[in-house]
Amino acid sequence: MKKIIVAIDGFSSSGKSTMAKELAREAGYIYIDTGAMYRAVSLHAIRQGWLNKNNIDETALQQHIGDISIEFRTNAEGKSETYLNGENVEKEIRSLDVANGASRISTLGFVRRELVRRQQDMGREKGIVMDGRDIGTVVFPQAELKLYISASPEVRARRRWLELKGKGESVSYNDVLANVIERDRRDTQRAESPLRKAEDAIEIDNSELSPEEQMNIIRKLFQEATADC
Ligand code: DC
Repeated sequence: MKKIIVAIDGFSSSGKSTMAKELAREAGYIYIDTGAMYRAVSLHAIRQGWLNKNNIDETALQQHIGDISIEFRTNAEGKSETYLNGENVEKEIRSLDVANGASRISTLGFVRRELVRRQQDMGREKGIVMDGRDIGTVVFPQAELKLYISASPEVRARRRWLELKGKGESVSYNDVLANVIERDRRDTQRAESPLRKAEDAIEIDNSELSPEEQMNIIRKLFQEATADC
């Protein structure tokens, strides 16, 4: 069967990564979490002192962005983990600080151009499930299957809050909700490649769906898309 590109876009904490990973596993495709790439750049910039609460040193970031190595390696349990300049940073990039930094640096055109170029290289052979904000609109406008995942801000904040609590981070639900709303605003209103549904994307609102119900819908769409090839 011919391999395709599956482009999955959606808001933060919409559950798109869990679903994208599962689809890639079942299909034997490569999974790429593009959010992790923006997070890795954010972490690097924070560590270098180029990014803090008030300021971004765009000159330094632009000068060095090409040298930042970001890789995905599969661990012993078969899970993909993010490596920044050879170091496993999978845990560190999931913090709220790094997420906020990622949301800010992802508004910069030169950051997007560099990461989009790398993402397009990764998809050259197809057989890939990639998730993010601009995959169906900018990275792979020619993707054979495009999904746009949404859920209400309250549902997504609750999921994120439970996840953070589970990891032992002490944050209040209201702070997480405020953060989700702020990131939605930035993701949808930035000038460079804002999050939007591609015209030919299929929208799935999973506010009321269980993960299993959602996977059943997606499996069916994937089978239809590959049958057309
Ligand atoms: O999906 P995530 O929460 O891990 O993404 C982190 C940030 O990176 C988020 O604020 C939006 C940004 N991002 C982006 O602008 N484009 C992508 N393709 C993926 C993520």
